[in-house]
This record gives sequence, structure tokens and C-alpha cells, in this order.
Amino acid sequence: MEEKISGIQKNYLDKITKASSLKELDEIFLEVFGKSGEITLLPKNFKNLSSDEKKTVGPLFNQVKQELEKTIGNRRQAVREESYSKLSKEEFDINSKTKISKREGHLHLATRFKEEIIELFEKLGFSQFDAPHIESEKYNFEDLNIPKDHPSRDMWDTLYIEPGKLLLRTHTSNFWPRLMKKKRTPLRAMSFDRCFRYEAVDARHSHTFNQFEIAVVGKAGEITMANLKYLSDYLLKGLLGKEAKSRFRPKYYPFVEPGVGIDCLCVFCHGKGCRICSGTGWFEIAGAGMIHPNVFKAAGLDPKKHSGLAWGFGPDRMLMIKYQIEDIRLFLEGDLKFLQGFNKP
Ligand code: PHE
Repeated sequence: MEEKISGIQKNYLDKITKASSLKELDEIFLEVFGKSGEITLLPKNFKNLSSDEKKTVGPLFNQVKQELEKTIGNRRQAVREESYSKLSKEEFDINSKTKISKREGHLHLATRFKEEIIELFEKLGFSQFDAPHIESEKYNFEDLNIPKDHPSRDMWDTLYIEPGKLLLRTHTSNFWPRLMKKKRTPLRAMSFDRCFRYEAVDARHSHTFNQFEIAVVGKAGEITMANLKYLSDYLLKGLLGKEAKSRFRPKYYPFVEPGVGIDCLCVFCHGKGCRICSGTGWFEIAGAGMIHPNVFKAAGLDPKKHSGLAWGFGPDRMLMIKYQIEDIRLFLEGDLKFLQGFNKP
């Protein structure tokens, strides 16, 4: 038994001095003092020893046990100190060259398109404005000449937050009555932001979508349909190229008079009719018109002294046409395959 104890002592003292990490020392500790460690299990055999033997084995066992415990503790301390001193000597070489793998992110296609459109209109002196997404009925409807309970409200599938009070705005058209009310005229303003509608979602309809809207207000007779036509062509040519052009169709919107729907010549078939424009040669891209006298009145401006135009255009739809994206839902999803498909400027 004495030999066995001395064997354990020698073996482990050796291992402990050679150990160079705290992890190794923990493992040694478990081998010796763990549940089935060599020192832990040893006393089980003491009952077979004669009382004489017990007299020598007992103290020897205790001495070895303490020695091993202490040596492990000391070695732990030494290993820690070695690593601290290594750290304190370590230097950061600012000139060392490390290869960093290149994996750059990029802006979303719709965000880049937004920047492109904003830049286009900044060149014409338009300033950018935001308006609340959660809007009162007043600015989304009433001040836009859509009275309470008027059937024309059915033109917008509205998501109400508090019926009769708050809603998620159905269009960006809420931004210009707000500015007009603050008498920020003459006005040359634009807004590009999200709108919301109670839509049955499918490949062509989404509950959340973008609109780009402009509003121009000047003195009576100053702003005309000719300006509206120029600005529409300017937008289309700027985004789709020189060949693009617009066409006006009469259309009803309560806040403009006259009101028009703006179509864009199909850039794929040049108006001949193809699969992408469903054989019509044109795409409907915006609603527009001359600001209605009642909208001026609601803003506290004299309609006889002012004239103005506005249009609201759907950039998501334009992107779908331009890049032949077949599902509008892709704009709101984080589908990497779709996103990475547009990582080039
Ligand atoms: N707000 C209208 C819509 O969302 C578009 C529009 C804007 C029409 C400005 C006329 C003038 O359908």
C-alpha cells in the first residue's frame, strides 16, 4: 500500500509540474480528487490492512493528499502569472497586415431608387418633407376634400386605429395640406415614404407600400397642367431613359380638379403591346391633378389667389416593371436571394 501511495505521489507530482494550462490542471485535479479519483477511492482498501500498517499508511496518505492539493494550487497560481506576464509583454503592431475577408453589404433596391428619385427632384429645387404614418382623418381625408361619410372614401381601403379619429395613412397626400396650412407657400415639395391599405395581399397588392408625391403651389394662374405634364415626363425620362414618356387620362380624385391618371409608355415594346404591359402598351403609374379649391380653403388659403398641382406615384410598381420583379411582397421580406440579386449599383 505504501508503494502504491508513493507511486501516485510521484506520478501526479510529475504531471502537475508539466501542466501548462489551467484546463490541464483541472483535469488532473479530477483524476486525483474527483468522485472516482485515485486519492478519493484509496481509503476504501484501508479496512484490509493490519493495525500496524494502518499506523504508517494513514499519515502517509494524509501527507500525500495535502501535498498534491497544495502543489496543484501552487501550479495554478504559477500558470496564471505566466499568462499575465505574457499578456503584459504582448504588443499590438499597428502595421501588421491582416487579411480581412470582403463581404460588403448594400442598400436595399427600394432605398437606392428612393435616393435616385429624390436627387432627380432636388435638382429642380424640390425640398423633402415627411408626414405622420399614423394620421388623423382630417389630414388623410377631410382637408383633402373628402368629407366624413362621403362615398369617395371607399376609394381607399383604410386601416383604422381609432375609427373616426386615427388611421394608417392611405397615401402620401397628407403631407401637402399640412404644409399649406402652415402657409409655406409658394411650395415646391416632395415626400417619399410608406403608405398602408387594407388589402388582400397577393403578388400585386401589399398592405404596406411606398409612394412618391410632389406638390407645387404658386400664385393664381402660375401653375398649370403644362407643368404637370413636364414634371411627369421629367420623372419618367430620368428613371427609365429618354424614350420614356407619359400620357394623361381623365380620372377622379376628390382633392384635384381636373384629375388625371398618368400612364407611362411601355419601355419594353414602345407602346406596341407586350406580355409585360398586358398588351396595352402603357402602364398606369400615378394619380395627379390641379389642387382643388376646397383644399386651398381648408388650409386657410384663398383659392382665387393660388394655383397648384400634385401627383402621387407608386415607385414599387415602377421597380417591378423596370426589373421584372413578379411579386411585390419581396420588397418587405428579407429574402437574401432577392436582396443579393441587386447588389450592383
Ligand atoms: N393620393 C392618390 C392615391 O393614393 C394619388 C394622387 C396624388 C392623386 C395627388 C392626385 C394627386 O391614389
